[in-house]
Amino acid sequence: MDAIVALAKRRGFIFQSSEIYGGFNGFFDYGPLGSELKKNIRDCWWNDMVRRRDDIVGLESSIIMHPKVWEASGHVAGFTDPLVDCKASKMRYRADQLFFAKVGIHPEPIEFTQADEATRAEYFERLKPRDGRKKVVEPSAKVLEIVAAFRREEEAAARAETVSGEGIGYVSALETERTTAALREKAELLKRKVGARGILVVAKPKDFTDATPEEVALIPSPATGNPGDLTEARSFNMMFQTNVGAMTDAASVSYLRPETAQGMFVDFKNVVDTGRVKLPFGIAQIGKSFRNEITPRNFIFRSREFEQMEMEYFIHEDADWAKCHQEWIEWCRQWLLSIGLPESHLSLYAHPKAKLAFYSKGTVDIMFKYPFGVQELWGIAARGDYDLKQHATASGKPMEYFDELSKKKFVPHVIEPAVGVDRILLAVLCAGYAEEDVKDEKGNVEKRTVLRLSPRIAPVKVAVLPLLKNKETLVGRARALYQKLQRRYAVFYDDGGAIGRRYRRQDEIGTPWCVTIDFDTIEKPGDTFTLRERDSMQQTRITETELFALLEEKVY
Ligand code: GAP
Repeated sequence: MDAIVALAKRRGFIFQSSEIYGGFNGFFDYGPLGSELKKNIRDCWWNDMVRRRDDIVGLESSIIMHPKVWEASGHVAGFTDPLVDCKASKMRYRADQLFFAKVGIHPEPIEFTQADEATRAEYFERLKPRDGRKKVVEPSAKVLEIVAAFRREEEAAARAETVSGEGIGYVSALETERTTAALREKAELLKRKVGARGILVVAKPKDFTDATPEEVALIPSPATGNPGDLTEARSFNMMFQTNVGAMTDAASVSYLRPETAQGMFVDFKNVVDTGRVKLPFGIAQIGKSFRNEITPRNFIFRSREFEQMEMEYFIHEDADWAKCHQEWIEWCRQWLLSIGLPESHLSLYAHPKAKLAFYSKGTVDIMFKYPFGVQELWGIAARGDYDLKQHATASGKPMEYFDELSKKKFVPHVIEPAVGVDRILLAVLCAGYAEEDVKDEKGNVEKRTVLRLSPRIAPVKVAVLPLLKNKETLVGRARALYQKLQRRYAVFYDDGGAIGRRYRRQDEIGTPWCVTIDFDTIEKPGDTFTLRERDSMQQTRITETELFALLEEKVY
């Protein structure tokens, strides 16, 4: 991950917001290449989701909407994260990301005698190489038998996952891809601290939202390590508040939208009345959303200002919603593959029924294998008729659809695929980044950093490189090609340095092709260029017509 963050900064993809002031946690800026990459992701989604479909129309609603929208949608009352404070360090954590485990010592009387333990200790002592004595002394059969039995006990205890009685205390750790391992390490330290003997048992980790009031007092703060420093979990509303107009009183309070979805529900009637749409149909929107995340982290994965691409697909109240839900899950998966994410990195996670919001019929997340763990990329939710009904009740305006066939009025149900542009961008950077050993023209091995971005989203599609910058005929031909390509594509002109180095610079930013204008171009018939392909590094000759045909096919 560090290498990807460094590349993103070095090559102008992503900067920390307000960096000269020390940065601003949870906010990011997209540099020259990042803004191109982001725009390409948005454009691909918009083209595939809206322009290339007959059943979906677009919308761009305002970021700040009437505060009643957020009351009706349930965000004012319920868009909260459980929050826990450390009273001593003043650190603040999301309770569902703070894990704890009770620690105990194996409750069964261990069948080893003290002598056995001493033998085991001696065995491990003997395995240690001493000064100048590397040879390991073979343990006796008896010792091996005892060690094996001890290991079996240890494994059984590790699997037990429950600690009966008081135990020796609690350990806590913040959620990472190795939370369980971190808790175990802390449990080992605790065992040593309290001087306990026997086999360590670490109960199954739970998150802080599951802590009983008695446990809250016993769980150590991750910041101080002391029990009693943490508060109970409290609800914290994640919407950013602002005031609209000159007064800053309760009546002027409004919110930066935490999702784009509500725009589609609130404008449902407007679109039906003006858009010549018939069920089933969708309304799609791309735009910024804002959430006062308690723990923004993993670079741009969870930030406070981010961009969403959401689509509300309205269906008949009696339609087979489960089938439609499945179809959208598959559509989203295929779309991610179409912009170059590898199938091996994608998986599906169906939210357990018990954890769904009461109105939700089902939610499936497309998960992506990021370097920091498998995490949600795209949520596809079946939301029933909840949102439209809420707005109908709160506004007093009917949100019904008149079905010509059945001559019936009803409130449509909805399937909602909702994804973050920034999360997709991070996924393509992570999946595309590679460092490899390659040979230069002289046969020397060197490192090349390459971003394997799909031509659909690569920030630069082609780099045009005149072999020499002081040869008028080469430069003239290169400039002419560059200007022609520029009318349709994002292209880059580079005449600085050795050709191999110029290729490397383009590899690092994910440019799929480099076109070199060389002496064959100007001296031989056919007006051909050297086309160098990023991933294979293969070089072929190509005419201008063939180059445009290649781009037409691959960049869509
Ligand atoms: N309208 C439904 C909705 O907003 P969500 O699961 O809260 O659902 C949808 O958000 C998507 O938006 C997520 O799957 C994720 O891709 C993106 N997203 C949510 N919170 C984010 C954050 N703090 N930073 C970056 N992306 C975020």
